[in-house]
Amino acid sequence: MTLASRMNDLGTETAFEVLAKAKVLEAQGKEIIHLEIGEPDFDTPKHIVEAGVEALRDGHTHYGPTAGLPELREAIARNSREVRGIDTNPEHVVVTPGAKPIMFYVILALSEPGVEVIYPNPGFPIYESMIRFSGGTPVPMRLLESKAYHPDLDDLAQKITSRTRLIIINSPENPCGSALTRDELETIANLVKKRDGIYVMSDEIYKDILYTGEHHSIAAFPDMGERTIILDGFSKSYAMTGWRLGYGIMPPELVPHIVKLAVNSVSCAATFSQRAAIAALDGPQDGVQAMLVEFTLRRRLVTDGLRGIPGITCPEPEGAFYAFPNISGTGLSSAEFEDRSMNEAGVALLAGNAFGEFGEGYVRLSYANSQQNISKALERLDAMVRSLG
Ligand SMILES: Cc1ncc(COP(=O)(O)O)c(C=O)c1O
Repeated sequence: MTLASRMNDLGTETAFEVLAKAKVLEAQGKEIIHLEIGEPDFDTPKHIVEAGVEALRDGHTHYGPTAGLPELREAIARNSREVRGIDTNPEHVVVTPGAKPIMFYVILALSEPGVEVIYPNPGFPIYESMIRFSGGTPVPMRLLESKAYHPDLDDLAQKITSRTRLIIINSPENPCGSALTRDELETIANLVKKRDGIYVMSDEIYKDILYTGEHHSIAAFPDMGERTIILDGFSKSYAMTGWRLGYGIMPPELVPHIVKLAVNSVSCAATFSQRAAIAALDGPQDGVQAMLVEFTLRRRLVTDGLRGIPGITCPEPEGAFYAFPNISGTGLSSAEFEDRSMNEAGVALLAGNAFGEFGEGYVRLSYANSQQNISKALERLDAMVRSLG
Protein backbone atom coordinates (compact mmCIF):
# COMPACT_ATOMS: atom_id res chain seq x y z
CA MET A 1 0.00 0.00 0.00
CA THR A 2 1.33 3.44 -0.86
CA LEU A 3 0.50 5.79 1.95
CA ALA A 4 0.58 9.55 1.92
CA SER A 5 4.02 10.63 3.12
CA ARG A 6 2.49 12.73 5.88
CA MET A 7 1.62 9.48 7.66
CA ASN A 8 5.32 9.13 8.51
CA ASP A 9 5.06 12.27 10.61
CA LEU A 10 2.23 11.05 12.79
CA GLY A 11 3.22 9.75 16.22
CA THR A 12 1.10 7.87 18.72
CA GLU A 13 0.14 7.52 22.36
CA THR A 14 1.84 4.40 23.68
CA ALA A 15 -0.53 4.01 26.64
CA PHE A 16 -2.97 2.23 24.34
CA GLU A 17 -0.22 -0.07 23.00
CA VAL A 18 1.04 -0.99 26.46
CA LEU A 19 -2.54 -1.65 27.55
CA ALA A 20 -2.94 -4.02 24.56
CA LYS A 21 0.30 -5.86 25.53
CA ALA A 22 -0.93 -6.18 29.12
CA LYS A 23 -4.23 -7.65 27.89
CA VAL A 24 -2.33 -10.33 25.94
CA LEU A 25 -0.37 -11.31 29.08
CA GLU A 26 -3.58 -11.31 31.13
CA ALA A 27 -5.21 -13.62 28.58
CA GLN A 28 -2.26 -16.00 29.24
CA GLY A 29 -3.10 -15.96 32.95
CA LYS A 30 -0.55 -13.38 34.17
CA GLU A 31 -1.69 -10.84 36.74
CA ILE A 32 -0.86 -7.28 35.66
CA ILE A 33 -1.31 -4.13 37.75
CA HIS A 34 -2.35 -1.32 35.46
CA LEU A 35 -0.50 1.93 36.01
CA GLU A 36 -0.26 2.83 32.33
CA ILE A 37 -3.56 4.31 31.34
CA GLY A 38 -4.48 7.93 32.02
CA GLU A 39 -8.06 7.73 33.10
CA PRO A 40 -9.70 8.00 36.51
CA ASP A 41 -10.60 4.57 37.91
CA PHE A 42 -13.86 6.00 39.30
CA ASP A 43 -17.29 5.66 37.75
CA THR A 44 -19.01 8.71 36.31
CA PRO A 45 -21.08 10.25 39.16
CA LYS A 46 -24.63 8.87 39.26
CA HIS A 47 -26.52 12.11 38.56
CA ILE A 48 -24.50 12.57 35.36
CA VAL A 49 -25.22 9.01 34.22
CA GLU A 50 -28.92 9.55 34.96
CA ALA A 51 -28.94 12.73 32.87
CA GLY A 52 -27.34 10.82 29.98
CA VAL A 53 -29.81 7.93 30.24
CA GLU A 54 -32.74 10.32 30.43
CA ALA A 55 -31.44 12.14 27.35
CA LEU A 56 -31.30 8.84 25.45
CA ARG A 57 -34.87 7.98 26.55
CA ASP A 58 -36.05 11.46 25.56
CA GLY A 59 -34.77 10.95 22.02
CA HIS A 60 -31.57 13.00 22.12
CA THR A 61 -30.07 10.56 19.66
CA HIS A 62 -29.76 12.76 16.59
CA TYR A 63 -27.17 15.08 15.11
CA GLY A 64 -26.73 18.39 16.89
CA PRO A 65 -25.10 21.68 15.91
CA THR A 66 -21.41 21.22 15.06
CA ALA A 67 -20.19 23.76 17.62
CA GLY A 68 -22.22 22.05 20.37
CA LEU A 69 -25.68 22.35 21.92
CA PRO A 70 -26.40 26.01 22.76
CA GLU A 71 -27.33 25.02 26.35
CA LEU A 72 -23.97 23.30 26.85
CA ARG A 73 -21.98 26.13 25.28
CA GLU A 74 -23.82 28.46 27.63
CA ALA A 75 -23.07 26.24 30.66
CA ILE A 76 -19.38 26.02 29.70
CA ALA A 77 -19.09 29.79 29.29
CA ARG A 78 -20.86 30.37 32.63
CA ASN A 79 -18.66 27.81 34.39
CA SER A 80 -15.48 29.32 32.94
CA ARG A 81 -16.47 32.83 33.97
CA GLU A 82 -16.90 31.53 37.54
CA VAL A 83 -14.00 29.09 37.79
CA ARG A 84 -11.39 30.84 35.63
CA GLY A 85 -12.53 34.40 36.08
CA ILE A 86 -12.44 35.01 32.35
CA ASP A 87 -14.74 37.18 30.31
CA THR A 88 -16.27 34.73 27.86
CA ASN A 89 -19.58 33.81 26.23
CA PRO A 90 -21.07 30.84 24.34
CA GLU A 91 -19.85 32.15 20.97
CA HIS A 92 -16.27 31.45 22.09
CA VAL A 93 -17.00 27.78 22.87
CA VAL A 94 -16.67 24.76 20.56
CA VAL A 95 -17.69 21.33 21.89
CA THR A 96 -15.98 18.22 20.47
CA PRO A 97 -15.97 14.43 21.03
CA GLY A 98 -13.24 14.45 23.72
CA ALA A 99 -10.74 17.27 24.14
CA LYS A 100 -8.25 15.71 21.73
CA PRO A 101 -9.98 17.06 18.58
CA ILE A 102 -9.51 20.61 19.91
CA MET A 103 -5.75 19.91 20.04
CA PHE A 104 -5.85 18.45 16.54
CA TYR A 105 -7.92 21.26 15.04
CA VAL A 106 -6.08 24.15 16.67
CA ILE A 107 -2.70 22.79 15.55
CA LEU A 108 -4.02 22.12 12.02
CA ALA A 109 -5.54 25.60 11.86
CA LEU A 110 -2.43 27.46 13.01
CA SER A 111 0.65 25.39 12.20
CA GLU A 112 2.18 24.83 8.75
CA PRO A 113 5.63 24.57 7.14
CA GLY A 114 7.78 27.48 8.27
CA VAL A 115 5.86 27.92 11.53
CA GLU A 116 7.33 27.01 14.93
CA VAL A 117 5.22 25.63 17.73
CA ILE A 118 6.64 25.51 21.26
CA TYR A 119 5.39 22.60 23.36
CA PRO A 120 6.27 20.98 26.72
CA ASN A 121 8.74 18.08 26.63
CA PRO A 122 8.28 15.68 28.38
CA GLY A 123 4.67 16.30 27.42
CA PHE A 124 1.48 14.78 26.05
CA PRO A 125 2.77 12.97 22.92
CA ILE A 126 -0.04 14.11 20.66
CA TYR A 127 1.25 17.71 20.67
CA GLU A 128 4.52 16.82 18.96
CA SER A 129 2.79 14.29 16.72
CA MET A 130 0.27 16.85 15.47
CA ILE A 131 2.83 19.62 15.01
CA ARG A 132 4.90 17.32 12.79
CA PHE A 133 1.78 16.16 10.93
CA SER A 134 0.84 19.79 10.21
CA GLY A 135 4.29 20.38 8.68
CA GLY A 136 5.24 22.86 11.41
CA THR A 137 8.46 22.71 13.43
CA PRO A 138 8.13 21.42 16.99
CA VAL A 139 10.28 23.42 19.44
CA PRO A 140 10.54 21.66 22.80
CA MET A 141 10.13 23.60 26.04
CA ARG A 142 12.07 21.35 28.38
CA LEU A 143 10.61 20.55 31.78
CA LEU A 144 13.39 19.99 34.26
CA GLU A 145 13.46 17.53 37.12
CA SER A 146 15.76 19.96 38.97
CA LYS A 147 12.92 22.52 38.87
CA ALA A 148 10.25 19.99 39.88
CA TYR A 149 9.37 19.77 36.17
CA HIS A 150 8.74 23.46 35.66
CA PRO A 151 10.19 25.11 32.54
CA ASP A 152 13.09 27.56 32.52
CA LEU A 153 11.30 30.71 31.35
CA ASP A 154 14.52 32.49 30.32
CA ASP A 155 15.07 29.58 28.00
CA LEU A 156 11.48 29.90 26.74
CA ALA A 157 12.09 33.60 25.99
CA GLN A 158 15.07 32.58 23.83
CA LYS A 159 12.97 30.06 21.93
CA ILE A 160 10.31 32.55 20.81
CA THR A 161 11.13 33.82 17.31
CA SER A 162 9.37 35.63 14.47
CA ARG A 163 8.31 32.16 13.26
CA THR A 164 6.56 31.20 16.53
CA ARG A 165 2.80 31.08 16.07
CA LEU A 166 1.68 28.85 18.92
CA ILE A 167 2.91 28.02 22.42
CA ILE A 168 1.33 25.01 24.11
CA ILE A 169 1.21 24.85 27.87
CA ASN A 170 -0.34 22.12 29.98
CA SER A 171 -1.02 22.68 33.66
CA PRO A 172 -1.32 20.45 35.63
CA GLU A 173 0.94 18.50 33.32
CA ASN A 174 0.87 15.02 31.83
CA PRO A 175 3.24 13.18 32.38
CA CYS A 176 5.22 15.25 34.91
CA GLY A 177 2.46 16.26 37.34
CA SER A 178 3.79 19.82 37.63
CA ALA A 179 1.50 22.87 37.74
CA LEU A 180 2.54 26.33 36.56
CA THR A 181 2.37 29.04 39.21
CA ARG A 182 0.50 32.31 38.76
CA ASP A 183 3.83 34.12 38.44
CA GLU A 184 5.08 31.73 35.78
CA LEU A 185 1.84 32.14 33.80
CA GLU A 186 2.15 35.91 34.04
CA THR A 187 5.71 35.75 32.72
CA ILE A 188 4.61 33.56 29.81
CA ALA A 189 1.69 35.93 29.10
CA ASN A 190 4.08 38.91 29.00
CA LEU A 191 6.42 37.08 26.61
CA VAL A 192 3.48 36.28 24.31
CA LYS A 193 2.19 39.85 24.34
CA LYS A 194 5.59 41.21 23.26
CA ARG A 195 4.95 39.93 19.73
CA ASP A 196 1.91 39.99 17.48
CA GLY A 197 0.45 36.82 16.09
CA ILE A 198 1.39 34.36 18.85
CA TYR A 199 -1.35 32.25 20.40
CA VAL A 200 -1.30 30.03 23.46
CA MET A 201 -3.09 26.70 23.63
CA SER A 202 -3.61 26.17 27.32
CA ASP A 203 -4.42 22.53 28.03
CA GLU A 204 -6.27 22.67 31.35
CA ILE A 205 -7.82 19.21 31.28
CA TYR A 206 -6.38 18.38 34.73
CA LYS A 207 -7.38 21.69 36.34
CA ASP A 208 -9.61 20.01 38.94
CA ILE A 209 -6.87 17.64 40.07
CA LEU A 210 -4.56 20.06 41.82
CA TYR A 211 -3.11 19.26 45.26
CA THR A 212 -2.06 22.69 46.46
CA GLY A 213 -3.12 26.21 45.62
CA GLU A 214 -5.64 27.27 43.02
CA HIS A 215 -5.83 26.72 39.29
CA HIS A 216 -5.00 29.80 37.23
CA SER A 217 -5.73 30.13 33.54
CA ILE A 218 -3.38 32.17 31.38
CA ALA A 219 -6.53 33.43 29.60
CA ALA A 220 -7.39 35.43 32.73
CA PHE A 221 -4.41 37.79 32.39
CA PRO A 222 -5.08 41.16 30.72
CA ASP A 223 -5.42 40.91 26.92
CA MET A 224 -4.77 37.16 26.97
CA GLY A 225 -8.37 36.10 26.22
CA GLU A 226 -7.88 37.16 22.61
CA ARG A 227 -4.65 35.15 22.36
CA THR A 228 -5.59 31.97 24.19
CA ILE A 229 -7.34 28.76 23.27
CA ILE A 230 -8.33 26.94 26.44
CA LEU A 231 -8.60 23.19 26.02
CA ASP A 232 -10.66 21.35 28.63
CA GLY A 233 -13.23 18.62 28.90
CA PHE A 234 -15.15 16.17 30.99
CA SER A 235 -12.86 13.11 30.78
CA LYS A 236 -10.73 13.69 33.86
CA SER A 237 -12.77 16.01 36.12
CA TYR A 238 -15.92 13.89 35.96
CA ALA A 239 -14.44 10.47 35.09
CA MET A 240 -16.17 10.62 31.69
CA THR A 241 -13.42 9.37 29.33
CA GLY A 242 -15.79 7.04 27.46
CA TRP A 243 -18.48 9.69 26.94
CA ARG A 244 -16.03 11.51 24.63
CA LEU A 245 -16.67 15.12 25.43
CA GLY A 246 -14.35 18.08 25.47
CA TYR A 247 -14.30 21.73 24.47
CA GLY A 248 -12.24 24.70 23.46
CA ILE A 249 -12.75 28.33 24.49
CA MET A 250 -11.11 30.56 21.89
CA PRO A 251 -11.04 33.94 20.21
CA PRO A 252 -14.28 34.25 18.19
CA GLU A 253 -12.40 34.73 14.88
CA LEU A 254 -10.93 31.22 15.26
CA VAL A 255 -14.30 29.57 15.97
CA PRO A 256 -15.57 29.23 12.34
CA HIS A 257 -12.30 27.56 11.31
CA ILE A 258 -12.39 25.06 14.16
CA VAL A 259 -16.05 24.39 13.37
CA LYS A 260 -15.13 23.80 9.71
CA LEU A 261 -12.55 21.20 10.76
CA ALA A 262 -15.17 19.58 13.00
CA VAL A 263 -17.80 19.47 10.25
CA ASN A 264 -15.24 17.87 7.95
CA SER A 265 -14.37 15.18 10.48
CA VAL A 266 -16.92 14.42 13.20
CA SER A 267 -20.05 16.56 12.44
CA CYS A 268 -20.82 16.96 16.15
CA ALA A 269 -20.33 15.43 19.60
CA ALA A 270 -22.91 12.89 20.81
CA THR A 271 -25.99 14.85 21.86
CA PHE A 272 -26.84 12.65 24.88
CA SER A 273 -23.25 13.04 26.14
CA GLN A 274 -23.70 16.79 25.88
CA ARG A 275 -26.89 16.61 27.97
CA ALA A 276 -24.97 14.64 30.60
CA ALA A 277 -22.21 17.26 30.51
CA ILE A 278 -24.69 20.01 31.36
CA ALA A 279 -25.63 17.99 34.47
CA ALA A 280 -21.90 17.61 35.26
CA LEU A 281 -21.29 21.37 35.22
CA ASP A 282 -24.52 22.47 36.83
CA GLY A 283 -24.95 19.67 39.39
CA PRO A 284 -23.16 18.84 42.68
CA GLN A 285 -19.36 18.83 42.53
CA ASP A 286 -18.80 16.43 45.44
CA GLY A 287 -17.69 13.62 43.09
CA VAL A 288 -14.79 15.81 41.90
CA GLN A 289 -13.86 16.55 45.53
CA ALA A 290 -14.01 12.89 46.55
CA MET A 291 -11.71 11.95 43.66
CA LEU A 292 -9.23 14.60 44.69
CA VAL A 293 -9.16 13.36 48.31
CA GLU A 294 -8.39 9.82 47.13
CA PHE A 295 -5.76 10.97 44.60
CA THR A 296 -4.08 12.98 47.37
CA LEU A 297 -3.63 9.81 49.47
CA ARG A 298 -2.32 7.85 46.50
CA ARG A 299 0.11 10.61 45.59
CA ARG A 300 1.73 10.25 49.02
CA LEU A 301 1.86 6.47 48.71
CA VAL A 302 3.38 6.53 45.23
CA THR A 303 5.96 9.26 45.87
CA ASP A 304 7.16 7.73 49.17
CA GLY A 305 7.21 4.25 47.67
CA LEU A 306 9.22 5.29 44.61
CA ARG A 307 11.69 7.29 46.68
CA GLY A 308 12.38 4.14 48.72
CA ILE A 309 13.56 2.19 45.66
CA PRO A 310 17.34 2.33 45.09
CA GLY A 311 18.36 4.34 42.01
CA ILE A 312 15.03 6.20 41.76
CA THR A 313 14.27 9.86 42.45
CA CYS A 314 10.83 11.41 42.18
CA PRO A 315 9.60 15.00 42.57
CA GLU A 316 6.20 15.24 44.26
CA PRO A 317 3.38 15.69 41.73
CA GLU A 318 1.52 19.00 42.14
CA GLY A 319 -1.47 17.97 40.06
CA ALA A 320 -2.97 15.34 37.71
CA PHE A 321 -2.53 11.68 38.71
CA TYR A 322 0.90 10.83 37.35
CA ALA A 323 4.30 10.30 38.96
CA PHE A 324 7.33 10.70 36.70
CA PRO A 325 10.30 9.15 38.49
CA ASN A 326 13.88 9.31 37.25
CA ILE A 327 14.98 5.69 36.90
CA SER A 328 18.42 6.32 35.37
CA GLY A 329 20.14 5.29 38.62
CA THR A 330 18.87 1.73 38.11
CA GLY A 331 21.07 1.39 35.01
CA LEU A 332 18.06 0.62 32.80
CA SER A 333 16.83 2.71 29.90
CA SER A 334 13.20 3.84 29.94
CA ALA A 335 12.25 1.17 27.40
CA GLU A 336 14.05 -1.58 29.36
CA PHE A 337 12.36 -0.46 32.57
CA GLU A 338 8.92 -0.50 30.90
CA ASP A 339 9.59 -3.93 29.43
CA ARG A 340 10.94 -5.54 32.62
CA SER A 341 8.21 -3.98 34.76
CA MET A 342 5.59 -5.56 32.58
CA ASN A 343 7.21 -8.96 32.00
CA GLU A 344 9.01 -9.54 35.31
CA ALA A 345 7.08 -7.49 37.87
CA GLY A 346 3.63 -7.60 36.24
CA VAL A 347 3.33 -3.81 36.41
CA ALA A 348 2.23 -1.90 33.31
CA LEU A 349 3.76 1.58 33.15
CA LEU A 350 5.08 3.81 30.37
CA ALA A 351 8.61 4.62 29.23
CA GLY A 352 9.30 8.33 29.69
CA ASN A 353 10.63 8.79 26.16
CA ALA A 354 7.11 8.11 24.88
CA PHE A 355 6.55 11.71 26.06
CA GLY A 356 9.42 13.20 24.07
CA GLU A 357 13.21 13.07 23.89
CA PHE A 358 13.63 14.64 27.35
CA GLY A 359 11.67 11.79 28.90
CA GLU A 360 14.55 9.32 28.44
CA GLY A 361 15.68 8.08 31.86
CA TYR A 362 12.17 8.40 33.29
CA VAL A 363 8.95 6.38 33.43
CA ARG A 364 5.34 7.43 34.01
CA LEU A 365 3.09 5.76 36.55
CA SER A 366 -0.60 6.66 36.57
CA TYR A 367 -1.97 6.31 40.09
CA ALA A 368 -5.51 5.86 38.85
CA ASN A 369 -5.64 2.52 40.65
CA SER A 370 -6.52 1.43 44.19
CA GLN A 371 -4.12 2.08 47.10
CA GLN A 372 -3.90 -1.68 47.56
CA ASN A 373 -2.82 -2.25 43.96
CA ILE A 374 -0.42 0.69 44.04
CA SER A 375 1.25 -0.72 47.20
CA LYS A 376 1.56 -4.13 45.56
CA ALA A 377 3.00 -2.58 42.38
CA LEU A 378 5.58 -0.61 44.39
CA GLU A 379 6.66 -3.75 46.27
CA ARG A 380 7.09 -5.60 42.98
CA LEU A 381 9.07 -2.75 41.39
CA ASP A 382 11.27 -2.53 44.48
CA ALA A 383 12.02 -6.26 44.28
CA MET A 384 12.67 -6.02 40.54
CA VAL A 385 15.16 -3.16 40.89
CA ARG A 386 16.94 -4.79 43.86
CA SER A 387 17.38 -7.99 41.84
CA LEU A 388 19.16 -6.13 39.01
CA GLY A 389 22.43 -6.51 40.86
C1 LIG B 1 -2.79 16.50 28.66
C2 LIG B 1 -4.00 15.91 28.04
N1 LIG B 1 -4.74 16.66 27.23
C3 LIG B 1 -5.82 16.15 26.62
C4 LIG B 1 -6.22 14.85 26.79
C5 LIG B 1 -7.38 14.32 26.00
O1 LIG B 1 -8.53 14.10 26.72
P1 LIG B 1 -9.85 13.52 26.06
O2 LIG B 1 -10.01 12.12 26.59
O3 LIG B 1 -10.95 14.39 26.58
O4 LIG B 1 -9.76 13.56 24.59
C6 LIG B 1 -5.47 14.03 27.64
C7 LIG B 1 -5.84 12.61 27.83
O5 LIG B 1 -5.13 11.81 28.34
C8 LIG B 1 -4.34 14.58 28.29
O6 LIG B 1 -3.58 13.85 29.12
